Amino acid sequence: MDSVFPTVTGGYIARDAFYSLKASKPVAVGGFRLVFAHPVNPRFLIKVIRPDRIEQERRRGALSKAIRRYGHLIQFQREVSEQIAARAADEVLPPYVQQIVGIVETDMGMGLVSKAVLSPDGQMALNLADRLKAEGMTAEVHDALGKFEQQILASNVAIGDMHPGNLVYGIQNDGQLGITLVDGIGIKTLIPLYGISQVLNRRHKLKRLAVMWRQIERILESRRTLSRKTQNAAEP
Ligand SMILES: Nc1ncnc2c1ncn2[C@@H]1O[C@H](COP(=O)(O)OP(=O)(O)O)[C@@H](O)[C@H]1O
Ligand SMILES: [Mg+2]
Repeated sequence: MDSVFPTVTGGYIARDAFYSLKASKPVAVGGFRLVFAHPVNPRFLIKVIRPDRIEQERRRGALSKAIRRYGHLIQFQREVSEQIAARAADEVLPPYVQQIVGIVETDMGMGLVSKAVLSPDGQMALNLADRLKAEGMTAEVHDALGKFEQQILASNVAIGDMHPGNLVYGIQNDGQLGITLVDGIGIKTLIPLYGISQVLNRRHKLKRLAVMWRQIERILESRRTLSRKTQNAAEP
């Protein structure tokens, strides 16, 4: 029985596919998920749903549970479905979409294993919101955003959320430096309009991109305000 691990529901799971994460500190915390470094492969991350979000989902009514069969795992379902759709369309996953490499069991429920977007120095790259707060906009990031925008519009990948916290500038799947969408792909609507109509999908993506640029501008503006304030405070 050494190679299996008892689960909470009384079953058994192969020990080599089970990861204990609870005791470790996440490398990032999103609005829905905790992100952990993969205990064996440093190039991978394991994402699990935040316990408070699972609790919220448990409190939903019976009807909404019946409609949302995927429950608290809906985000995983959307993301995996969209990765399959992207491969069906282009054979390979586009380089600007985070690559999912597997599903594992963890002591915090289902874990989605994905490739970490790294900086050229091998460290995990910052998301765009944190990067812009730290160093403002640079020419290389601006160019990469322009390229990302063109690629996203030309592809049929559907996007739900494209805010700067879901974008990471670093080494992409094809080995090039660029912007990768690490979260937010997939169709959120009950009827998958953006999967059926490329015209609607493109129109929706144009709107999401406009929102993304406004959010970027807001981050840069508050950075400028902050630096003006610190400058004023430093003057005699
Ligand atoms: N593949 C990745 N490479 C590098 N950083 C990542 C990756 N995936 C997530 N992150 C970091 O973790 C944060 C939260 O992950 P995310 O998937 O957006 O969670 P949530 O669904 O809660 O929003 C991101 O804002 C980003 O900083
Ligand atoms: Mg996110």
